[in-house]
Amino acid sequence: MSTTTPTPSSAGRNIARQRRFWTSRASSWDHDASSNPSLVKVVEAVIEAAAPRASDEAVDLGCGSGQVTLGLAPKVRSVVAVDISEKMIELLVGNARAKGVENVSGLAEPVESLALMPGSVDIVVTNYALHHLRDSDKPALVKSAYTWLRPGGRLVVGDMMFGRGGDSRDREIIASKLGLLVKKGPGGWWRIAKNAGRYLLRYQERPVSMAAWQKMFEAAGFQQIEARPVVNEAAVVVGVKPPG
Ligand SMILES: C[S@@+](CC[C@H](N)C(=O)[O-])C[C@H]1O[C@@H](n2cnc3c(N)ncnc32)[C@H](O)[C@@H]1O
Repeated sequence: MSTTTPTPSSAGRNIARQRRFWTSRASSWDHDASSNPSLVKVVEAVIEAAAPRASDEAVDLGCGSGQVTLGLAPKVRSVVAVDISEKMIELLVGNARAKGVENVSGLAEPVESLALMPGSVDIVVTNYALHHLRDSDKPALVKSAYTWLRPGGRLVVGDMMFGRGGDSRDREIIASKLGLLVKKGPGGWWRIAKNAGRYLLRYQERPVSMAAWQKMFEAAGFQQIEARPVVNEAAVVVGVKPPG
């Protein structure tokens, strides 16, 4: 009798790759994140845009070791922190314990397969994680977030946001990234080749523009959509699920 091993789907391959990559980088991300001033600014912008209230139940998608979760937790009733990497969740739980934060629970799961009860949360936040999703998974996740939110709930996406040169902000970001790398000499040229693979061929990182995120929010039914650049290529988009 012959047996065949099923070929992993494109979704399965991306999930496996992200899990491997982030598990290997979990400790260094945990160690370096709080001393990265740009990341700290985006984390603050995400939390501010979420307009947290003491009664809110929140979810943080691609939570890492707690950069947004642990800033948000003191301002809300609870946070469910979701990450594809068990190692990240272990670090998050350890960080929460060290800070005496008790209203956070960790869930090691890809956001693509996350199933929450419809209308069960007030805030869905995510920072610097969704550019790792395949392009077709991004609008699907925005729609799921709309379903999970209660009326009046907020979705906040913080991330690197630029396209492939379609608008002037894209071109400025790409030019400034290229300029910095060119100045570094042969090491920088190698990074240019690597980043061309990452961003343009959409291998590891698949950022899209602020306008693309805004369209996904609109298509899902969000209102009061606001998008604002924060620092370098990072921006935040927020939308509100209409009440009633
Ligand atoms: C750049 S880190 C950002 C971590 C944190 N949100 C922050 O602001 O520092 C990206 C995180 O997204 C997670 N991630 C990537 N793809 C994911 C997926 N499909 N489902 C859940 N988490 C994912 C990674 O494991 C990693 O922890």
